[in-house]
Amino acid sequence: MQKKRWYILGCGIILLLVVAIIVIGLVAGLVLARRGGDSSSGNSTTPAPPPTTNSTAALSACGTHPSSIRRQVLTAAMLKGDVYIFARGLDGAIWYRVLSGSSSSTVWKSDWARWIETEDTFAGPPTAVSWTPNGDDRMHVFAPANNGKFNVLGAGYLNGSFPSTWQNLGEPTASAVALCHLPGGWVSSSAGAPDRIDQWVVNRDSRAITHDFWNSAIENFQEPATYVDWEASPSAQASASGLGVVCRRDDPIHTVLMFANGTDSVRFRHYTGSNRFWNPWVDIGGNFIGDPVLLPIGGSSLFYFFGINATGAMQSFYWTDAVGLGYRPPWTYLGGNFSSVPAAVLSTPDPSLRLDAVALGADGKMKHKGFLNQTWDGQWEDLGIEADSAPFLFQYEADAGTGLKVNRTLMAAIGADNQLRVAIWESASTKPWRELVAGDKWAIAGGNLTAKSMCD
Ligand SMILES: *[C@@H]1O[C@H](CO)[C@@H](O)[C@H](O)[C@H]1NC(C)=O
Ligand SMILES: *[C@@H]1O[C@H](CO)[C@@H](O)[C@H](O)[C@H]1NC(C)=O
Ligand SMILES: *[C@@H]1O[C@H](CO)[C@@H](O)[C@H](O)[C@H]1NC(C)=O
Ligand SMILES: *[C@@H]1O[C@H](CO)[C@@H](O)[C@H](O)[C@H]1NC(C)=O
Ligand SMILES: *[C@@H]1O[C@H](CO)[C@@H](O)[C@H](O)[C@H]1NC(C)=O
Ligand SMILES: *[C@@H]1O[C@H](CO)[C@@H](O)[C@H](O)[C@H]1NC(C)=O
Ligand SMILES: *[C@@H]1O[C@H](CO)[C@@H](O)[C@H](O)[C@H]1NC(C)=O
Ligand SMILES: *[C@@H]1O[C@H](CO)[C@@H](O)[C@H](O)[C@H]1NC(C)=O
Ligand SMILES: *[C@@H]1O[C@H](CO)[C@@H](O)[C@H](O)[C@H]1NC(C)=O
Repeated sequence: MQKKRWYILGCGIILLLVVAIIVIGLVAGLVLARRGGDSSSGNSTTPAPPPTTNSTAALSACGTHPSSIRRQVLTAAMLKGDVYIFARGLDGAIWYRVLSGSSSSTVWKSDWARWIETEDTFAGPPTAVSWTPNGDDRMHVFAPANNGKFNVLGAGYLNGSFPSTWQNLGEPTASAVALCHLPGGWVSSSAGAPDRIDQWVVNRDSRAITHDFWNSAIENFQEPATYVDWEASPSAQASASGLGVVCRRDDPIHTVLMFANGTDSVRFRHYTGSNRFWNPWVDIGGNFIGDPVLLPIGGSSLFYFFGINATGAMQSFYWTDAVGLGYRPPWTYLGGNFSSVPAAVLSTPDPSLRLDAVALGADGKMKHKGFLNQTWDGQWEDLGIEADSAPFLFQYEADAGTGLKVNRTLMAAIGADNQLRVAIWESASTKPWRELVAGDKWAIAGGNLTAKSMCD
């Protein structure tokens, strides 16, 4: 499908649901038939088997144990001082609800609503990002379509307007869309290099990492509309997971991290903007399930990795450019026994750097561990709350009232009742997390949402 500017109204033809189902069924059938032919003697007339409930998982970047771990299904972005929370509904639509950014507790400014009507449903969770090029508030949302091709669709608030249609970005994806914001004036650029947002997916056919970006100077995606296959060595390129990405103004301007197909080890590489070069992959081993989580420490080259290994425990490492682009960082073993991917947040920046990590325990309850004074807590703190989804953490800078800014942390998850739960606190709070999410602070926020990713 052609790329179009996403603020332009689409052709607007709404297919009858029955027709859409037939088309999706036919395309899925063709895909399955082709795959069947690839692995057998090439008898292309062999009838396609009927699609099974896990045919999505079989084709996705889901590793070797697709449904043994909950992946991230929630996303949020700040727009004009409020927090927009997005999730996929049980009906396959993308839903959102707006939370007051200035309130110190959960005050909602809207009820749940569908984010842009479309004839497509969605096969995987949304991801959102916001940015303000030249002071213009913007927010983009991307998700994999359930249109037989798993194309990336995008729809964003731009130039003061909410979108009226999703734009089909063409790329067939096997993963959720990883997003980052590359600040203007980045290192290699001549003066005035514009802000941009970069999007990354695992290509559904090759499992290679593919990339595109929206350039605020030309108000469109990178043109010509291509995706870039960065990997020189095909045997080493395929991803078995979704992606972790970091974008920064200074070199390396990008870091991309995945769990490698075949080994489930952590593999990452950096892109240096000054010489426009993808440095060699660095493989630091390990054996992971689910998706990687990266926590960039703003304004520096430092980032932290969090992942769940094949025995269910959490592992971490940190990376900074002080050690060189080929550096293989040592592991920090955080233990635990988890059934979801981690989430992590920077609670206080340097010099009193404090990080916090959470994940859903194998017992169905949320666990927390803090990193303070360069030391991880010894034990996982049981937060005493049950959930059905991976936990989601989001930090935002809010107006505390008298012109003062304050950083707040939002924690959210979907319960077994398909409703969202949310708690908010001041990021720098030193209270135990069990208190921060206790009782009515962990407020049920409604919705009819799914905790399932592309892999369930
Ligand atoms: C191809 O499939 C058709 C239908 O199942 C079957 O009749 C035929 O024998 C197959 N041919 C080969 C070469 O396997
Ligand atoms: C799911 O996929 C696995 C591996 O391809 C297969 O063995 C299993 O039968 C499938 N389950 C269903 C319900 O289709
Ligand atoms: C939730 O979504 C499902 C699937 O679309 C629907 O059957 C059900 O009625 C919805 N429940 C509520 C409370 O809206
Ligand atoms: C947004 O506004 C700017 C400034 O008026 C303009 O240059 C740009 O083309 C607009 N972008 C879109 C997508 O309409
Ligand atoms: C992924 O790894 C498996 C097992 O090693 C291998 O059979 C398969 O060909 C690989 N897929 C890609 C796309 O490299
Ligand atoms: C997972 O990490 C734990 C410690 O946190 C370690 O004991 C275990 O060997 C690791 N498992 C794998 C498969 O790496
Ligand atoms: C993790 O929890 C599961 C479910 O409770 C349990 O079966 C498994 O033995 C636990 N694994 C470890 C290493 O404790
Ligand atoms: C931080 O660690 C240093 C060295 O281990 C120790 O001397 C200091 O007391 C610690 N500070 C706090 C607040 O725990
Ligand atoms: C909020 O956090 C960011 C990132 O750590 C930091 O740059 C900013 O100064 C913080 N704002 C406040 C008001 O503390």
